[in-house]
Amino acid sequence: MKKGRKYFASLMLAAMISSSAINVFAADNDGWTEATQTRLGQTSAWADWCKQWQTIKNSPTQMSLSPGEDETELNFAWYSKDTDSQAKLKISTNKKMKNAKVLKVTTIDATEGFKSNKATAKNLKSNTKYYYSYTIDGEWTEPTLYETQSTKSYSFGFVGDPQIGSSESNIATGSTEKQGQDNAVRNDSFNWNNTINTMLKKDSDISFIVSAGDQIQTRDKKNPSMSYNKNEIEYAGYLSPTALQSVPVATTIGNHDAVSGNYSYHFNTANASELGSTMAGGDYYYTYGNTLFIMLNTNNTNIAEHQKFVENAVKENKDAKWKVVTLHQDIYGSGEHSNEPEIASLRYNLIPILEDNDIDVVLTGHDHTYSRSYILKGGSLDESSMITDDNKIVTNPEGILYMTANSASGSKYYDLVEKKQAYIASRWQEDVPTYSIIDVNDTTFTINTYRTDNNQKIDSSFTIKKTNKKSNGKQNNVQNNNKKTNHK
Ligand SMILES: [Fe+2]
Repeated sequence: MKKGRKYFASLMLAAMISSSAINVFAADNDGWTEATQTRLGQTSAWADWCKQWQTIKNSPTQMSLSPGEDETELNFAWYSKDTDSQAKLKISTNKKMKNAKVLKVTTIDATEGFKSNKATAKNLKSNTKYYYSYTIDGEWTEPTLYETQSTKSYSFGFVGDPQIGSSESNIATGSTEKQGQDNAVRNDSFNWNNTINTMLKKDSDISFIVSAGDQIQTRDKKNPSMSYNKNEIEYAGYLSPTALQSVPVATTIGNHDAVSGNYSYHFNTANASELGSTMAGGDYYYTYGNTLFIMLNTNNTNIAEHQKFVENAVKENKDAKWKVVTLHQDIYGSGEHSNEPEIASLRYNLIPILEDNDIDVVLTGHDHTYSRSYILKGGSLDESSMITDDNKIVTNPEGILYMTANSASGSKYYDLVEKKQAYIASRWQEDVPTYSIIDVNDTTFTINTYRTDNNQKIDSSFTIKKTNKKSNGKQNNVQNNNKKTNHK
């Protein structure tokens, strides 16, 4: 980043803030968002955060919540020091923890000096307030609220690539590599906190968040290792938003997560499989209400394993009205990665599996840019879809919608490729973190995506509608003679 440009951007930003009430959160370059140049970063929030960070950065013991096997379960994972003899966790509907249920905790060794603890709360009722408390080094934490939501009609958040610790240019401001990483993680975590808080302000009733991978950066990716611990500071930053103590995140394994064991220590994933494994773990799935969520670790490129996993998950959940697959690599994206041969190869290997299993939507990340595809079938436009309202509502499509999330933290942005691919319906990159809110019920699946600086939508609201109530997911395929346009 050039100093002059930074200075000019600061002046511009100051001018914009003083002349407008709009919450400006502009990046000053194409690469990443400097926290101190955001509107929030120019308040006392930044100094407060820097103070808090001194404690947080040395503490990877923050609770990590993940969806359980279905809406009646909640999964917990947290670190304790390896000197701690037995970590405990209890849950109650009472804030004072009266009649609390003590859960079974499974403990294994994690990175040097720490143990990983996991537990699952079961039989949770919808629309109910629960409180949980757990031990860190023998001390019980203050009870934390976890409120279950509706399950029939519900919302979830969707984010991509927080990739905490990726704001490379911050490295230059540290006198050592370690100090540089510290600065980068502090910067990205501040912005990540802002995104989570902004999302929850927009919709405080989201049931969970789906992250399409690359939770953290892992600077040294060349030496995969179960005991690698230099990314623990990044996990400490990733887990730092207080709101995440009360909202589960269904994380996907990105290429930056795949190379260390720490992902598997920090996240307690439901129905975890050996299929599709890397050091970080394998494929997993969960259901929520009428939806099956299949999470693939496509850093493992063994397609036969993913096929087996998807087929089994679908077979086990025949009644699912909606089927959503999340994987890290944007097989129909529009950023700098999207035209790479490995991505194209993954695309063509996965299409038959996704289509044969009647998947409705595929959520991806990796390209740190936003895009929404047309409804695609076999790599072509699904012309059987009844598209109405200027392409914003599709009814009973046979094909699949592919979404790619932009960076949720602003730790790194890629540019859109110059030539928009024919499969892309909408795309966006203005170097501002974004997030999506997805509303689901028995007939509609609606996606809205917002920028975090002013909460304006970056794309029109997009809805998939199903009108055949008897149909389990897709309607029976009706032969149509429409001429297909090839969008490979
Ligand atoms: Fe990434």
